[in-house]
Amino acid sequence: MEFHAAHGFLLHQFLSPLSNTRTDAYGGTSENRARFLKDVLLAIRDEVGRDYPVIIRVSATDFVQGGLTPEDWAQMLKPLESELDAIDVSTGGLLPIQPSDVYTAYQLPHAAAIKQHVSIPVIAVGKIYSRSLANRILEDQLVDSVAIGRPLLEDPDYAERLLFA
Ligand SMILES: Cc1cc2nc3c(=O)[nH]c(=O)nc-3n(C[C@H](O)[C@H](O)[C@H](O)COP(=O)(O)O)c2cc1C
Repeated sequence: MEFHAAHGFLLHQFLSPLSNTRTDAYGGTSENRARFLKDVLLAIRDEVGRDYPVIIRVSATDFVQGGLTPEDWAQMLKPLESELDAIDVSTGGLLPIQPSDVYTAYQLPHAAAIKQHVSIPVIAVGKIYSRSLANRILEDQLVDSVAIGRPLLEDPDYAERLLFA
């Protein structure tokens, strides 16, 4: 299962200093801002057990000074690594800020930056549509896995066609 800590949803709001203005044990330091995420993750683990894959979706950047960065995420996720099976890296969504350009593999640098700091698998997504590009990303060990979204919505046979591309 993949649970959502990205795109401005509740967990993201707790994690980002831009939205979390609490003064109790759930706000302030990065450890405090990550406390709710830890509570939720441990509750998920209690339900599903250690053998069930649990993936977190993150927004590696809030696209603005003072927002979360890949390094912030790595710092908050590092102590939770033993409870997680992978990190699926997206961007944005907390604020109404879009990236200035959406180019091929536009989110890959953020995913690769998180991978520098963690030892569990990291997944990159975002306009990675060719088999050769995906293979290159994996061969270069920038991330551990590549996900595809929109092409699969347009063509349910896309994955099978990639096998023969
Ligand atoms: C119609 C549509 C709906 C989406 N819904 C979600 C969603 O509910 N949660 C989420 O985390 N990402 C959602 N995404 C983002 C995708 O998971 C993916 O990160 C994004 O499309 C970039 O990858 P791609 O270029 O391979 O499509 C959605 C994307 C599209 C196009």
